[in-house]
Amino acid sequence: MEQLLTVDDAERLAEAVVPAEAWGYIAGGAGDERTLLWNREAFSRCRLRYRILIDVSDVSTETSVLGTAVSMPVLVAPMAYQQIAHQDHELATAQGAAAAGTLLCLSTVATATPAAVAGAAPGAARWLQVYVFKDRSVSEEIIAEALDEGFSALVLTADFPVVGIRDREVRAAFDVPEADVPAYRSARQRIESDDPALDLLDAGVEWGYVTELRERFGVPVIVKGLVTAEDARLACEHGAAGVVVSNHGGRQLDGAVASLEALPEVVEAVDGRAEVYLDGGVRRGTDVVTALALGARAVLVGRPVMYGLAFGGAKGVQQVLEILRDETENALALLGCRSPAEVTREHVSTKYL
Ligand SMILES: Cc1cc2nc3c(=O)[nH]c(=O)nc-3n(C[C@H](O)[C@H](O)[C@H](O)COP(=O)(O)O)c2cc1C
Repeated sequence: MEQLLTVDDAERLAEAVVPAEAWGYIAGGAGDERTLLWNREAFSRCRLRYRILIDVSDVSTETSVLGTAVSMPVLVAPMAYQQIAHQDHELATAQGAAAAGTLLCLSTVATATPAAVAGAAPGAARWLQVYVFKDRSVSEEIIAEALDEGFSALVLTADFPVVGIRDREVRAAFDVPEADVPAYRSARQRIESDDPALDLLDAGVEWGYVTELRERFGVPVIVKGLVTAEDARLACEHGAAGVVVSNHGGRQLDGAVASLEALPEVVEAVDGRAEVYLDGGVRRGTDVVTALALGARAVLVGRPVMYGLAFGGAKGVQQVLEILRDETENALALLGCRSPAEVTREHVSTKYL
């Protein structure tokens, strides 16, 4: 058995057990996968400026996101259809995240319902990711169920008006597993159409929906999938409590700016009015502290969690998250920081970014 020391080890272990068509969906990106590559590469263009002779005998990775305590500034990104990676799907991911002490963001198009996820890991921190169906009541029913079950915020994914060009998925013959997904089943009952499942989503959503969600459901709304200062300002003006700087893990617009490259302008535009998170290409604790230094409050990880789920179910998810936590703790100590809050802009040089 191959050693499991890093997230890259987890990727190899997962690839060995996941069917080829599902692997094309999980690991792939859009188009020529340039943005997928850049998301990773941007981290290697930042250089950490560590400080010395600071007492780091007591380092903690603990922090909070929108007032919710988490064991580390690393959260679980929303990912669809997790039964393609493991029979225990989102339930195992929820248990793994809870065991590692961090927050899970559940996808609208999950295999498991919000109630089932809440039942699998009672009391754990959770947000619901929102995709907007053409019949908005499909999404709003799932939102209502999640809020009943204690999910504490809504994450509106805004970079998915249409699906990206996913050549790798097509070549691998991946099919959306519609029948396994409660949201699609519910949409099919209400939206008369023979179109593919993803066409049941509404490409007409605009900024007003951020305000509407906030006013209607009374919980914080986070806008996920922006990469510009302009959109960051609009998110704040519409009352977003948080933004996720993200290009959907390089799965949507190929050629889009890497998330890390976009982070500084978003942080500047938000100017403390909302929490800023980042996802895309985070694979190491050093990536986590780099994002913190550029102003992120926390990062989300997508594929690494799917890798853990695929090879080890709940335990695998926990192992991957704990690798990231241990690496983050180590990076904090070597930077001269005792907590995520002590990481500042001075800890990174962006000369090459
Ligand atoms: C297999 C897979 C499924 C995804 N499904 C969703 C989804 O349902 N909703 C969403 O907002 N983002 C989805 N994403 C994007 C992730 O939330 C996240 O933005 C991205 O994976 C971060 O990049 P990383 O995989 O490099 O960590 C998905 C990503 C992957 C890899």
